[in-house]
Amino acid sequence: MRDLTEDTITEAVIATMRDTKDARLAEILDSLVRHIHSFVREVGLTEEEWVRGVDFLTRTGQLCTPTRQEFILLSDVLGITMLVDALNNKRPAEATQNSVLGPFFRDDRPEHSDGADISEGLPGTPLFFEGQVVDREGTPVGGAAVDIWHSDAEGHYDVDVPDRTDPAMRGLIRTDQGGRFSFRSIRPASYPIPGDGTVGAFMSATGRSLMRPAHVHLMIEADGFQRVTTMLFPSDDLYLDADPVFGVKQSLVATYDDHAAGAGPCGGRTDEAYTLLRHTFVLEPLVAH
Ligand code: BEZ
Ligand code: FE
Repeated sequence: MRDLTEDTITEAVIATMRDTKDARLAEILDSLVRHIHSFVREVGLTEEEWVRGVDFLTRTGQLCTPTRQEFILLSDVLGITMLVDALNNKRPAEATQNSVLGPFFRDDRPEHSDGADISEGLPGTPLFFEGQVVDREGTPVGGAAVDIWHSDAEGHYDVDVPDRTDPAMRGLIRTDQGGRFSFRSIRPASYPIPGDGTVGAFMSATGRSLMRPAHVHLMIEADGFQRVTTMLFPSDDLYLDADPVFGVKQSLVATYDDHAAGAGPCGGRTDEAYTLLRHTFVLEPLVAH
């Protein structure tokens, strides 16, 4: 293994990994080395560019903390997160499709009873959500765990609201025997993904917007069914066709129905104009292995 050249180094590197015991790891590393070497050759990477690339990845790693994952954000804006999701969660068009999980899910969220107000008094247009979870045949899925989280009327999640330590605009609700669940909250707004790190620099260098269309995140789990990690976007949002993390699917664009003040849903009244969002989620059975 001496006197390697630009033409022989790729096979030489791959040969050093021939004793890899894990066959899948061997497959991944073989392909990774081939693709990275091809990339370096194709663009004719200069030494200065190599230093800049290493520095970019180093700073990306240094930004990661238990509450900030700049590498996942980089994967999101490069379309890798949604590509991995597409490869691993192929579902028929009738089933509810996945979108990105994002950085704002928290597993220490409160459990709420059906119909609860999860806004914790934050200001905004009241949002009433009425959902149903069914299987492919339309049979209700009772006892499903539905996680909900979303931003406030200014596009901030509870974790970003100054002085707020308690969770808000998030929670876990279980479906009733009719597969139904409901809650009250405030209408979310569109917001920018974090732009103060290496991903922000990448987005600005490539002339891309940081703005995500408004959405309500939902994650639904039920025995015997594939977990759905998804979100619902308002059909009139300005950013539907420029989502920086490629999470918008037409089946997840929903009508956020605006109503005048007066008789609200669930037999209640509201003194303010409100938005009603109704959606049926269709679960796929677990794939047998
Ligand atoms: C979100 O929707 O919460 C999100 C998703 C990906 C990156 C940043 C934010
Ligand atoms: Fe979000």
